[in-house]
Amino acid sequence: MKLILIGFMGSGKSSVAKTLSQLLTLPCIEMDELVFQKTNTQNMNEVFAKGGELLLREMEVIIAKEYALSDNNVISTGGGVVMNKLVLDYLKIGNGKIFFLNTPFQTIKERLAHDFSRPLFKNEGEAESLYHMRQPLYLKYADHIIESEKKSVEEIAEEILSYGS
Ligand code: S3P
Repeated sequence: MKLILIGFMGSGKSSVAKTLSQLLTLPCIEMDELVFQKTNTQNMNEVFAKGGELLLREMEVIIAKEYALSDNNVISTGGGVVMNKLVLDYLKIGNGKIFFLNTPFQTIKERLAHDFSRPLFKNEGEAESLYHMRQPLYLKYADHIIESEKKSVEEIAEEILSYGS
Protein backbone atom coordinates (compact mmCIF):
# COMPACT_ATOMS: atom_id res chain seq x y z
CA MET A 1 0.00 0.00 0.00
CA LYS A 2 1.34 3.38 -1.02
CA LEU A 3 -0.91 6.35 -0.30
CA ILE A 4 0.11 9.67 -1.86
CA LEU A 5 -1.57 12.87 -0.71
CA ILE A 6 -1.66 15.91 -2.97
CA GLY A 7 -3.34 19.30 -2.65
CA PHE A 8 -2.71 22.98 -2.23
CA MET A 9 -0.76 24.44 0.71
CA GLY A 10 -2.90 24.29 3.83
CA SER A 11 -5.18 21.54 2.56
CA GLY A 12 -4.21 19.30 5.48
CA LYS A 13 -1.94 16.79 3.73
CA SER A 14 0.55 16.54 6.60
CA SER A 15 -2.07 16.07 9.34
CA VAL A 16 -4.01 13.51 7.33
CA ALA A 17 -0.84 11.64 6.36
CA LYS A 18 0.23 11.49 10.02
CA THR A 19 -3.15 10.09 11.08
CA LEU A 20 -3.17 7.57 8.22
CA SER A 21 0.32 6.40 9.09
CA GLN A 22 -0.73 5.89 12.71
CA LEU A 23 -3.90 4.00 11.75
CA LEU A 24 -1.98 1.78 9.35
CA THR A 25 1.26 1.65 11.33
CA LEU A 26 3.15 2.62 8.21
CA PRO A 27 5.91 5.21 7.88
CA CYS A 28 4.89 8.74 6.98
CA ILE A 29 7.12 10.35 4.34
CA GLU A 30 7.05 14.16 4.50
CA MET A 31 8.55 15.43 1.28
CA ASP A 32 9.18 18.94 2.61
CA GLU A 33 11.16 17.48 5.54
CA LEU A 34 13.30 15.49 3.11
CA VAL A 35 13.94 18.68 1.12
CA PHE A 36 15.20 20.33 4.33
CA GLN A 37 17.50 17.38 5.05
CA LYS A 38 18.90 17.35 1.52
CA THR A 39 19.49 21.09 1.35
CA ASN A 40 20.74 21.39 4.91
CA THR A 41 18.02 23.87 5.80
CA GLN A 42 15.46 24.19 8.57
CA ASN A 43 12.48 25.55 6.69
CA MET A 44 11.15 26.52 3.25
CA ASN A 45 12.17 30.16 3.56
CA GLU A 46 15.77 28.98 3.90
CA VAL A 47 15.41 26.66 0.89
CA PHE A 48 14.17 29.59 -1.22
CA ALA A 49 16.93 31.86 0.11
CA LYS A 50 19.50 29.25 -0.88
CA GLY A 51 18.32 28.33 -4.36
CA GLY A 52 14.91 29.74 -5.03
CA GLU A 53 11.92 27.69 -6.13
CA LEU A 54 14.15 25.88 -8.62
CA LEU A 55 16.09 24.22 -5.81
CA LEU A 56 12.86 22.98 -4.25
CA ARG A 57 11.60 21.58 -7.55
CA GLU A 58 14.91 19.83 -8.26
CA MET A 59 14.88 18.26 -4.80
CA GLU A 60 11.30 17.08 -5.25
CA VAL A 61 12.27 15.15 -8.39
CA ILE A 62 15.29 13.58 -6.67
CA ILE A 63 13.20 12.54 -3.65
CA ALA A 64 10.38 11.17 -5.82
CA LYS A 65 12.92 9.10 -7.75
CA GLU A 66 14.35 7.75 -4.50
CA TYR A 67 10.89 6.72 -3.31
CA ALA A 68 9.64 5.46 -6.68
CA LEU A 69 10.09 1.83 -5.75
CA SER A 70 9.09 2.23 -2.12
CA ASP A 71 5.97 0.55 -0.78
CA ASN A 72 3.99 0.39 2.43
CA ASN A 73 4.09 4.05 3.27
CA VAL A 74 2.06 7.26 3.30
CA ILE A 75 3.57 10.13 1.34
CA SER A 76 2.67 13.74 2.07
CA THR A 77 3.78 15.83 -0.89
CA GLY A 78 4.46 19.56 -1.13
CA GLY A 79 1.66 21.51 -2.80
CA GLY A 80 3.78 22.19 -5.88
CA VAL A 81 4.60 18.62 -6.92
CA VAL A 82 2.06 18.88 -9.73
CA MET A 83 4.30 21.48 -11.40
CA ASN A 84 6.61 18.77 -12.69
CA LYS A 85 5.01 15.66 -14.16
CA LEU A 86 8.04 13.55 -13.25
CA VAL A 87 7.42 13.82 -9.51
CA LEU A 88 4.04 12.09 -9.44
CA ASP A 89 5.04 9.74 -12.24
CA TYR A 90 7.90 8.49 -10.07
CA LEU A 91 5.86 8.34 -6.87
CA LYS A 92 3.05 6.44 -8.54
CA ILE A 93 5.30 3.62 -9.74
CA GLY A 94 4.15 0.31 -8.29
CA ASN A 95 0.82 0.58 -6.59
CA GLY A 96 0.81 4.25 -5.60
CA LYS A 97 -2.66 5.75 -5.23
CA ILE A 98 -3.05 9.51 -5.37
CA PHE A 99 -5.60 11.28 -3.17
CA PHE A 100 -6.35 14.95 -3.78
CA LEU A 101 -7.50 16.88 -0.71
CA ASN A 102 -9.75 19.44 -2.34
CA THR A 103 -10.20 22.48 -0.12
CA PRO A 104 -11.78 25.86 -1.05
CA PHE A 105 -9.33 28.76 -1.28
CA GLN A 106 -11.32 30.69 1.32
CA THR A 107 -10.64 27.98 3.92
CA ILE A 108 -6.97 27.75 2.99
CA LYS A 109 -6.64 31.52 3.27
CA GLU A 110 -8.10 31.49 6.77
CA ARG A 111 -5.86 28.61 7.85
CA LEU A 112 -2.68 30.24 6.59
CA ALA A 113 -3.52 33.82 7.60
CA HIS A 114 -0.87 33.90 10.35
CA ASP A 115 1.53 31.38 8.87
CA PHE A 116 4.68 32.84 7.33
CA SER A 117 6.45 29.57 6.63
CA ARG A 118 5.44 29.33 2.96
CA PRO A 119 7.34 31.52 0.46
CA LEU A 120 4.62 31.04 -2.17
CA PHE A 121 1.88 32.19 0.17
CA LYS A 122 3.19 35.62 1.03
CA ASN A 123 0.81 37.50 -1.23
CA GLU A 124 -2.85 36.47 -1.11
CA GLY A 125 -3.66 37.49 -4.69
CA GLU A 126 -0.71 35.59 -6.10
CA ALA A 127 -1.52 32.57 -3.98
CA GLU A 128 -5.11 32.62 -5.24
CA SER A 129 -3.93 32.71 -8.87
CA LEU A 130 -1.61 29.80 -8.16
CA TYR A 131 -4.51 27.92 -6.58
CA HIS A 132 -6.69 28.32 -9.67
CA MET A 133 -3.82 27.50 -12.01
CA ARG A 134 -3.04 24.27 -10.17
CA GLN A 135 -6.59 23.08 -9.56
CA PRO A 136 -6.89 21.27 -12.94
CA LEU A 137 -3.52 19.61 -12.36
CA TYR A 138 -4.56 18.18 -8.99
CA LEU A 139 -7.77 16.91 -10.58
CA LYS A 140 -5.84 15.37 -13.45
CA TYR A 141 -3.41 13.43 -11.27
CA ALA A 142 -5.91 12.32 -8.63
CA ASP A 143 -7.08 8.73 -8.45
CA HIS A 144 -9.57 9.90 -5.82
CA ILE A 145 -10.81 13.37 -4.94
CA ILE A 146 -11.55 13.96 -1.28
CA GLU A 147 -13.73 16.96 -0.51
CA SER A 148 -12.10 17.97 2.74
CA GLU A 149 -14.25 20.96 3.66
CA LYS A 150 -16.00 20.61 7.06
CA LYS A 151 -14.45 17.19 7.69
CA SER A 152 -12.10 16.33 10.54
CA VAL A 153 -8.64 14.91 9.88
CA GLU A 154 -9.90 11.54 11.16
CA GLU A 155 -12.93 11.60 8.85
CA ILE A 156 -10.72 12.35 5.85
CA ALA A 157 -8.33 9.55 6.81
CA GLU A 158 -11.25 7.10 7.16
CA GLU A 159 -12.60 8.17 3.77
CA ILE A 160 -9.21 7.50 2.18
CA LEU A 161 -9.06 4.08 3.82
CA SER A 162 -12.54 3.27 2.56
CA TYR A 163 -11.15 3.25 -0.99
CA GLY A 164 -8.91 0.32 -0.03
CA SER A 165 -5.42 -0.09 -1.35
C1 S3P B 1 4.66 24.68 -1.91
C2 S3P B 1 4.06 23.97 -0.91
C3 S3P B 1 4.72 23.73 0.38
C4 S3P B 1 6.23 23.66 0.19
C5 S3P B 1 6.70 24.92 -0.46
C6 S3P B 1 6.06 25.16 -1.83
C7 S3P B 1 3.92 24.93 -3.16
O1 S3P B 1 4.27 22.49 0.93
O2 S3P B 1 6.61 22.55 -0.57
O3 S3P B 1 6.46 26.00 0.40
O4 S3P B 1 4.53 25.25 -4.20
O5 S3P B 1 2.66 24.80 -3.14
P1 S3P B 1 2.83 22.35 1.65
O6 S3P B 1 1.84 22.06 0.57
O7 S3P B 1 3.02 21.19 2.56
O8 S3P B 1 2.55 23.61 2.36
